[in-house]
Amino acid sequence: MNQDINFLIPSVPQSPKWWRNIVMYQIYPRSFKDSNGDGIGDLQGIIDSLDYLNGSSNSLGIGAIWLSPVYPSPMFDHGYDVSDYRNIDPSFGTLTIFNRLIEAAHQHSIRVIMDLVANHTSDQHPWFIKSRASRNNSLRDWYVWRDPAPDGGPPNNWLSYFGGSAWTLDKTTNQYYLHKFAPQQPDLNNWNPKVNQALVDIMHFWLKRGVDGFRMDVVDRLLFDPTFKDAPCNLAYKKNVDPQVKKFDFSKTYYQPEVHQIIAVFRRVLDLYDAVGIGEVEARSIDFIQRFYDHGRGVQLPFDFLLLKTPWEAKKIGAHLKMYEKKLPRSSWPMYVLGNHDKERLADRIGKHNLKLAALMLLTLHGTPMMYYGDEIGLASMPLSKDKWQDAYTKNTKSDWTRDYSRGPMQWNSSKYVGFSTHVPWLPPNEFKNEQNVQEQEKGPNSILHLYKSLIKLRNNHRSLSEGTFELIYDGSEGVIGYLRSFRTEKMLILLNFTSTIKQLRLKHKGLLGTVIMRTHTHNNPQDLVCTIHLKPKEGCILKLEKN
Ligand code: NOJ
Repeated sequence: MNQDINFLIPSVPQSPKWWRNIVMYQIYPRSFKDSNGDGIGDLQGIIDSLDYLNGSSNSLGIGAIWLSPVYPSPMFDHGYDVSDYRNIDPSFGTLTIFNRLIEAAHQHSIRVIMDLVANHTSDQHPWFIKSRASRNNSLRDWYVWRDPAPDGGPPNNWLSYFGGSAWTLDKTTNQYYLHKFAPQQPDLNNWNPKVNQALVDIMHFWLKRGVDGFRMDVVDRLLFDPTFKDAPCNLAYKKNVDPQVKKFDFSKTYYQPEVHQIIAVFRRVLDLYDAVGIGEVEARSIDFIQRFYDHGRGVQLPFDFLLLKTPWEAKKIGAHLKMYEKKLPRSSWPMYVLGNHDKERLADRIGKHNLKLAALMLLTLHGTPMMYYGDEIGLASMPLSKDKWQDAYTKNTKSDWTRDYSRGPMQWNSSKYVGFSTHVPWLPPNEFKNEQNVQEQEKGPNSILHLYKSLIKLRNNHRSLSEGTFELIYDGSEGVIGYLRSFRTEKMLILLNFTSTIKQLRLKHKGLLGTVIMRTHTHNNPQDLVCTIHLKPKEGCILKLEKN
């Protein structure tokens, strides 16, 4: 196949800032749906599941899917080690199937967002194979090579986020190469404009095929300190208590301000196609995250991972929302998220009894929500003994937690392999598969899945919820978070009771009365106008406010 053909694939009609008023959904492709019975999810499986996501009255109502990497890869880090940026890994399908996925997704009004891994490649990528072959080849400077220290050890004390030194000696040329992650993931030298250009070409390659944007892997960390000075010691490091990875600070391999110039180049490419950039940015501080909007030159949607890290307590969540929204640069748009493939499953983190409240909050907050597959059925992690761990990051460490726990197969029904596959899945289903599956939850009007569907429908049909302004009314200090979403005259009040007691609230907001239009704990029959509301423990509700 000629890979340079500019495919004429139908696209979803263009609308300015389309990424603002939809609900997005992260798919971990290995785990979503296996169509060919090898126990690994694939692109055809996603095509077969599109009706579930959008396009019919019974669908979830998702407007965009983000696919974790599907490029050819040795799969050391399950795709975050790319060996060819212009193809599809055979375990997921082919470029032809990918084209079909774009076409079918667009017909379902679903946009498709790929993962751009720009910090590193696989050590099997032809660029690295060439780069490592000699000291003076044309791709040597595409990666980061340094001579050993005088004692033969690594050139400096930089550590990898995956543990150990960030340097590995390559005997062919007797130099060390840099890897912020695993040795199998050598860092690209993003100070080299030729590398930036190669990444831009890759973006064009996919955008021309109809892709609607990229989630950008570790986009805040694409550079390193070019002076190669040692990292300072972490003064808070506790010897024999903290893992070695905490010994030095990461200032030399984390953020370098020049990274914004690279992101601005990526952004210009995105703008040519009306595409979106979603940034994976470290949850360092609100100011740090919001810097990545860069006055419209950065990514449109840097993730707010601070919310994801905030303990599930009304006071703390309320305080975070208050501050995040207050500091949000003018005309910028938040992206809130409660789980992903690197973090604990939402159900494990906050407990089953809080899941409906979390759904109601995520889908009524300001900004674009990114859901994680399976959260809509309350998917919890599976028991998995350490000898069965597959995650490169955790299996060789002393960690008692693995990212595998959050990457289990999507549970479509209660059969042996949960409707995910006809073969033993690469990770096992969980022990709650009889309740935590799509088929079962489609039956019950009180299921989490049902709530997600109703909430997304409500959000998609009400501009106050999808595009409206945000005003915090109750900041969580009394155990309840409340906020107002408004668009023109339409006003929705959201109330979330985080406590284990009943809360009675008087609605006295600027002379308005409310009609309850949705509750997490009771059926959604619209009620008469109310001026007082009782919220059950852990209950959330949405009221439409009208003039008295
Ligand atoms: C961030 C990704 O989310 C994670 O899964 C991966 O291991 C690292 N980047 C390295 O690519």
